[in-house]
Amino acid sequence: MKKVLVTGGAGYIGSKLVTKLLELKYKVTVIDTLKFSSKSLNHLFNNDNLIFIKGDVRNQKLMKKLIKNNEFIVPLAALVGAPLCEKNKKEAINVNLNSIKTLINNVTKKNKIIYLTTNSGYGVGEKNKYCDENSPLNPISLYGRTKVNAENYVMKCKNAIGFRLATVFGYSYRMRTDLLVNNFVFKSVNQKKLTLFEPHFRRNYIHVNDVVDGIIYSIKNFKRLKSNIYNLGLSSANLTKLMLALRIKRQIKSLKITIIKNKKDPDQRDYYVSNKKIEKKGFKANTSIDKGIKELINVFTHSKEKIINNY
Ligand SMILES: NC(=O)c1ccc[n+]([C@@H]2O[C@H](COP(=O)([O-])OP(=O)(O)OC[C@H]3O[C@@H](n4cnc5c(N)ncnc54)[C@H](O)[C@@H]3O)[C@@H](O)[C@H]2O)c1
Repeated sequence: MKKVLVTGGAGYIGSKLVTKLLELKYKVTVIDTLKFSSKSLNHLFNNDNLIFIKGDVRNQKLMKKLIKNNEFIVPLAALVGAPLCEKNKKEAINVNLNSIKTLINNVTKKNKIIYLTTNSGYGVGEKNKYCDENSPLNPISLYGRTKVNAENYVMKCKNAIGFRLATVFGYSYRMRTDLLVNNFVFKSVNQKKLTLFEPHFRRNYIHVNDVVDGIIYSIKNFKRLKSNIYNLGLSSANLTKLMLALRIKRQIKSLKITIIKNKKDPDQRDYYVSNKKIEKKGFKANTSIDKGIKELINVFTHSKEKIINNY
């Protein structure tokens, strides 16, 4: 059975990915410092196909051994998000960029890499920009810059696939409420009100389960997909912030939406994203925004679990 190394495998995307890989009987090794959640993999520790290492991807000796022992590598370990990287600049550069350089310098022909980055450098400051994989990524934050530089480095390797993700939403064993959809639903449930700046800014979204399915599709179809970068998002969800808020209001009737005029959102993304390239290769995200909102309303209404965000 195929062996997969997932760095940062206890995180928001990682804990869902590892769960699915084990369900599909892959042999999975996770390395994670457990920075945010120490229990997101608890439901998997009785699985003989999981090797868990509490460790740091900056440990080169350990990483060399893990690279050698695994065919597929999904390097998710990172300081994720602009505020966290601003607070910990040196660590952000070392984890997000330098550890990826070391990884790529140590892979052999048998290794296959699937790398995720954000599409958040697209369309900054350009109204309703239409973006595909050839559109320039101009990240403004240190987080964005480390991820784009790392993507460039990874894609020098022939045996690599890059995914540029839309804003991810949905429940995970390590929950994040800093992501836009999760954040709007969290506030809608708890405060019954949403305040929007620049409500017509458009973004693309994707459910975390579709991200996982996209990665697994790329493992299964590696040869056909390799040496390429793909946008990964839900094509029916290029929505403005106002459209998103109204979709939540359909399910929480008492929600009060207030639009603040003449105030700039610090996040100046406004774009349509095309996901046609990956769809032509046979993978299409399909979990709807409405289904995700329903899931999140239930989670935030019934679970009082403490959520530790990346800021
Ligand atoms: N969630 C999104 O919307 C999104 C979008 C685009 C790209 N990505 C990328 O996907 C990856 C995972 O993101 P996420 O949303 O799951 O974030 P997350 O913060 O939940 O997961 C990151 C994980 O990495 C671990 N980690 C941090 N530093 C480490 C180190 N030095 N050694 C080992 N482990 C370490 C953390 O403990 C955490 O479990 C990141 O590379 C991120 O840039 C995420």
